[in-house]
Amino acid sequence: MTRNDTCPGACEHQEDETEYYERVFDPMQTDRRARRKRKPVPRQLPKKPEEQIMEELADPIGLEGGFNTTYRPGQHEEQWLLSSLRSFYDQELITDVLAQVKGGKEASVYRCAAHPTVGSPFLASKVYRPRMFRTLRNDAVYRQGRQILTAEGRPVKTTDHRIMRAIGKKTVFGVQVMHTSWLMHEYNTLECLYHAGGAVPRPAAASENAILMSYHGDAQMAAPTLNTVRLDYGEAVLLFREVLRNVELMLQHDLIHGDLSAYNVLLWENELTIIDFPQAANSCANTEAYRILKRDIERVCDYFEGQGVRCDPSAIVDDLWSRYPGVEGGDRAADLSALEALSLE
Ligand SMILES: Nc1ncnc2c1ncn2[C@@H]1O[C@H](COP(=O)(O)OP(=O)(O)OP(=O)(O)O)[C@@H](O)[C@H]1O
Ligand SMILES: [Mg+2]
Repeated sequence: MTRNDTCPGACEHQEDETEYYERVFDPMQTDRRARRKRKPVPRQLPKKPEEQIMEELADPIGLEGGFNTTYRPGQHEEQWLLSSLRSFYDQELITDVLAQVKGGKEASVYRCAAHPTVGSPFLASKVYRPRMFRTLRNDAVYRQGRQILTAEGRPVKTTDHRIMRAIGKKTVFGVQVMHTSWLMHEYNTLECLYHAGGAVPRPAAASENAILMSYHGDAQMAAPTLNTVRLDYGEAVLLFREVLRNVELMLQHDLIHGDLSAYNVLLWENELTIIDFPQAANSCANTEAYRILKRDIERVCDYFEGQGVRCDPSAIVDDLWSRYPGVEGGDRAADLSALEALSLE
C-alpha cells in the first residue's frame, strides 16, 4: 500500500510507507533543514468520492483470487470486504460470506460460512469501516490508561519513536495504528472474557480491519438485540442477573464495557451474549472509570425496568465499586456525554 501526506486514497505523489516514515521521522536524522526541504509541499487534490477511495484502499484481490461469495456486496464494498476477510479465508476459517447481518456506523457484521474444521456452520465477521470513514465516537475518554496495540495484539513500546511520532502527528500511518489498536482492544477483551467464562462471542481471529467470532443466530436470522425483545418477568430477572454477573466478571479483570445497553446484548434461545467491546475501559487506569461504569449500569437498568424488573442503578454501582474499586479522579457527578464532547482531540 502507498501513502501520501494529504490524501491517503488519492496518491499522486506516491512512495512506500516505510520510505515515507524514514524520511520524515527518522530519529537519527539530524539535518532538519534538509529534511524539511525534501518534504513535499502538501497540494490540494480534488476530493474523491468515498466509494472510489474504498476501492483504492483495498488490496487488489478479488473473485479471481478464488474467494467467491454468495453474498453480493455492493460494487464499492466488494474490494474492501474481500481484502479485509482474505486472511480468514487463507487460514481456512471461513469459506464464504453468506449475508450482511448489519451495516453500522463503525463496522458491518457479516454471516460467514465456517470451514468444516471450525466445528460450527457459521462465523460472524465484524469488518471495520476504513479509518477515515468511521464515524468515530469520541474515543479519547475510553483510551485513557490503555496501551496502543499492534495488529498482533501486542502493546506498542512507548520508546518506538517512529510509531509514537506518527500517532502524535496524526499521520495516515499514525491514524491506521490507532484504528488497528481500537479493533485489537475489542479482540483482546473478547479473548479475556471468553476464557474467563463471560457470555461473549468466542473470538476466532483478527486482522487489521476485521475480527472473526462465533455467530449467534441461524441461517435465517442473526440473534436479535435485547432492545427489540419483550421478556416475561421471570425471564427478565434471570437475564438481568446474567448481565450483572458479566459486569462483575469484567471488573474482576479490570474492565468496563463502556457502551453497555440493550443494543449490545444479543438474545438467542434464552441465552444472552454481550457484544461490541472496542471501547472497553480499564477500571484501574482510567480516571473516568466510575462514570463509565455508572452509565453502563443505568442503561442496562433502563431496559430491565421496562421489562418489569425493579432496579436501583446507584445501589448496584456503589456495591460493585466498593468490591472492585478502580482508579478515582474524574468528577463523579459530571455528565459523561458532556465529557466526550469536551475531550475531542
Ligand atoms: N457475533 C455475532 N453474531 C450475530 N450477530 C452479531 C454478532 N456480532 C454483532 N452482531 C450484529 O451486528 C450488529 C453490529 O455489531 P456491533 O454492535 O458489534 O457493531 P457496531 O459497529 O457497534 O454497530 P452499532 O453502531 O450498530 O452498534 C449487532 O447489533 C448485531 O445485530
Ligand atoms: Mg453495537
